[in-house]
Amino acid sequence: MPAPTPATHPNLHLAAQHLQAGRLVAFATETVYGLGADACNDQAVASIFAAKGRPSFNPLICHFPDPAAARDHVIWNDQAEALANAFWPGPLTLVLPRQDQSRISRLASAGLDSLAVRVPAQQDALALLAAFGGPIAAPSANLSGRLSPTRADHVAQDLGNKVAMILDSGPCVVGLESTVIGLLDGQALLLRPGGLAIEAIEALVGPLAQIQTSDAPPSPGLLLQHYAPRSPIRLNASAPQSSGEVLLAFGPDWPQGYKTVLNLSQHADLTEAAAHLFDYLHRLDALAPTAIAVMPIPNIGLGLAINDRLKRAAER
Ligand code: TXA
Ligand code: MG
Repeated sequence: MPAPTPATHPNLHLAAQHLQAGRLVAFATETVYGLGADACNDQAVASIFAAKGRPSFNPLICHFPDPAAARDHVIWNDQAEALANAFWPGPLTLVLPRQDQSRISRLASAGLDSLAVRVPAQQDALALLAAFGGPIAAPSANLSGRLSPTRADHVAQDLGNKVAMILDSGPCVVGLESTVIGLLDGQALLLRPGGLAIEAIEALVGPLAQIQTSDAPPSPGLLLQHYAPRSPIRLNASAPQSSGEVLLAFGPDWPQGYKTVLNLSQHADLTEAAAHLFDYLHRLDALAPTAIAVMPIPNIGLGLAINDRLKRAAER
């Protein structure tokens, strides 16, 4: 199990190589430590969810070395320009419409048409992004339900045996997660309060809309729309029922002879299945079938999160 290693120049390059090979690396940002993976590698992103042990998929923040790199993956607007100019690099995350042709894993944005982007201010994080040369998807580097880590040894306690490397850059200077602002329909929306004060943001884009759930603080998980395909979903299928149906298969025993079948994992590997889930749903949905028939997925490990999403999609 890797103990934290100092974020020296050679170690940052080693970490970048781990990311290129699809492995997980924990690294400091100015807010909290992140559990990083190559944002364009479905399988690596799936292993983030496996490592955190979360029973559902939450969209992840993608980290970029500079605003221009972030702009390539989202549909930019004037509010984003004003906020990025003022606060990037820094503890601010912007949620914007996703560019259709972005190569970022659909699992990173949990199948949504939006993408959370941020340019961190921590020098080692920027050096890692530069050495890696692509976007890094990173949630806070804690197990599901635990506190966000602000020191390398917090990460080691939670995730030490699940990452290739923990880069130690000392304590995080902000110590609170980034403020998350949605910029999807002209009205700036506070999705998560965090390390950048609301007042500073409102000074530039006017009053933020907030979703209030009674007296309780808003929970970002609850505010999220879930990905929903346009086509109906039929769960626990063993084969398509009609020629209008397409099949999302799982495991080695899938029915042969059907035209439109995508198999989430022929080896019944749940991490591989998670990696393909949203991509395959999007592809099948684009064919406008009468229904997407889905074979049963075991309800263990990442299967819990996969079934959670499929059930929500089927219930609409
Ligand atoms: O400071 C931070 O933001 C840290 C460091 C590592 O950058 N990261 C972090 O990530 O806190 P995470 O995954 O623990 O929290 C991401 C937040 C969640 O509240 C998630 O719901 C929201 O961002 N989010 C991400 N993508 C979104 C999207 N497309 N739409 C709405 N909310 C989104
Ligand atoms: Mg978190």
